[in-house]
Amino acid sequence: MKILVTGGAGYIGSHTIVELIQAGYDVLAIDNFDNSYPYVLDNLAKITGRTIAFEKVDIRDKSALKSYFQLHKDIDAVIHFAANKAVGESVAKPLKYYENNVGGTVNLLEAMQEANIDQIVFSSSCTVYGEANPPVNENAPIPIAQSPYGNTKQICEEILHDQTIATDLKVVALRYFNPVGAHESALIGELPIGIPNNLVPFITQTAIGKREILTVFGNDYPTPDGTCIRDYIHVVDLALAHVAAIDFLTQKKYTDSFSVFNLGTGRGNSVLEVIQTFEAVCGVKLNYQIGPRRAGDVVQVYAACEKAANELGWKTKKTLEECMLSAWKWEKAIASNTLN
Ligand SMILES: NC(=O)c1ccc[n+]([C@@H]2O[C@H](COP(=O)([O-])OP(=O)(O)OC[C@H]3O[C@@H](n4cnc5c(N)ncnc54)[C@H](O)[C@@H]3O)[C@@H](O)[C@H]2O)c1
Repeated sequence: MKILVTGGAGYIGSHTIVELIQAGYDVLAIDNFDNSYPYVLDNLAKITGRTIAFEKVDIRDKSALKSYFQLHKDIDAVIHFAANKAVGESVAKPLKYYENNVGGTVNLLEAMQEANIDQIVFSSSCTVYGEANPPVNENAPIPIAQSPYGNTKQICEEILHDQTIATDLKVVALRYFNPVGAHESALIGELPIGIPNNLVPFITQTAIGKREILTVFGNDYPTPDGTCIRDYIHVVDLALAHVAAIDFLTQKKYTDSFSVFNLGTGRGNSVLEVIQTFEAVCGVKLNYQIGPRRAGDVVQVYAACEKAANELGWKTKKTLEECMLSAWKWEKAIASNTLN
């Protein structure tokens, strides 16, 4: 079975390529390196012992995508990661997000239809739920999106759903909670560009001395320690869920042509718990302060994961401690400048 991974040089795409290859799939990858680097492909080869069949293709370029599929007629399914993902930037540059995330997905679906490829796994997000009561299951209402980025995920899910009605397309949409951590080799991981928006890269960058101080945005929320609660999922567990989703599609285990799954641990951890876990397992004292709340932060969100367990046969295995240790090992690898 041959799987095309869009955004394959990115954070989640690269980890998924490792697990697909280890599960016995043939993998093709495309990326435009908008938010990643070519050396990731070399490091994937080091981890897997295989050269990754890669081409630089921008999914906004419809004719390039169509030519790509004409050259690769034996693709069985696509995992679609390629997108822009910075919520704040999406507020400042909405058209960039609609063009790339929505327009790129439409181009991909058109090219797939022309090439008779009818199975796709799509990267969605728990942001589609907004402020829902945890544990959040897949039937929770989808409110009006709070950012253009969140809206692109909602719109893409709707486009994919419409396309399953109009054609033979089969879709698995995966709503990720908070992906963190890195591969144990520390050869691949997340490369946040600029000041990180997410807690874990901010913690590791503060610990390594790249950032002077970590600010906790508010400690007066209605949670046990007053800080916000999220569901942190190790990226390797997340990658394994994509292998399970591909098995689900290619082995026709679905009952609906459009299936949606939450991918989380089912456990919520507060910002302070994450900080304390990092300090305890990595043996580093963090310089942090309590600041005011950040606009737009949801108080607490974590997943109900029973659907993925029952239908995909997938559950997370890694602990928050393993998330912190691997993230720290990755931050030290970035600092040592030995990645490329
Ligand atoms: N990381 C998260 O916290 C998170 C949470 C929920 C959902 N997601 C979604 O998961 C997917 C992967 O996220 P990630 O964290 O790996 O991000 P990432 O930025 O590390 O990876 C995305 C990859 O897509 C590439 N790309 C972007 N636009 C492209 C284009 N037009 N053509 C070809 N390649 C393009 C980028 O260069 C990058 O390598 C995205 O769709 C994102 O929205 C991520």
